[in-house]
Amino acid sequence: MISGMIDIHTHILPQVDDGPSDWEDALALIRQGMNDGIRGAVCTSHVLNKLDDNLEGKLVYRFNQLKEMLAKHNLDFKLWLGSELHILSEYDPMSQTATINGNKKYLMIEFPMNEMPSDADDKLFQLTLDGFIPIIVHPERNAKILYQPEKLFEFVQRGILLQMNAGSIDGVFGRPVKKLAIEMLDRNLVHFIASDCHQVRERPMLLSEAYRTVEKRWDRKLAQILFQANPLSAIQGDPISASEPKSFKDKKRKSFFSFGTR
Ligand SMILES: [Fe+2]
Repeated sequence: MISGMIDIHTHILPQVDDGPSDWEDALALIRQGMNDGIRGAVCTSHVLNKLDDNLEGKLVYRFNQLKEMLAKHNLDFKLWLGSELHILSEYDPMSQTATINGNKKYLMIEFPMNEMPSDADDKLFQLTLDGFIPIIVHPERNAKILYQPEKLFEFVQRGILLQMNAGSIDGVFGRPVKKLAIEMLDRNLVHFIASDCHQVRERPMLLSEAYRTVEKRWDRKLAQILFQANPLSAIQGDPISASEPKSFKDKKRKSFFSFGTR
């Protein structure tokens, strides 16, 4: 069994978003993750409109309740608090739950599923200018990016990080998403792989299948970086490991070159 994975994108706090509806569901999700070799998770509930004191208070309250629940059930599972911030939501990046583990460094940003707002670039760029490191969550699932993958290379060139969903590489979201997921990994355009779990059946907390795929198709070191080392570094506010990103245009250049040398 693979052990020591840390799930950096999860919906495990009950009754705050479309994650678990009660404590029983939340604990079932965590038990599922533990059986899969996951030893801890960042609680990244959706912030779709506004991260105000009211919502933040609720997230902190539920987070502390979940920690108590784990202790009560003798579940050895580590929890950290963060948020999944919609790119159009209002929030203060310095607030307690905007960044992962309140480290005032890494924050998880979500795009709408089928578009990329026109001011997304400016917003992300401003965050990097202010010293934050935005992590775009599951960009491989975004319909716009699917047809403009070069955008991902541009983001990474500008210091933005990318988190892929385990289900994307497992093929759960269809062939085009899986194809892009593979191409991203080939080009060093993935910094984290996470479950984005919501419920045990539909959106489970499972990472080991994707871990094995990365280990087999790329290498063990990359799997350890994406599922263990980088999540931990982001939680601690430390620099993450990344190889030189490659452009999607390089493929064309390469084939032209090999054709020319024949
Ligand atoms: Fe999510």
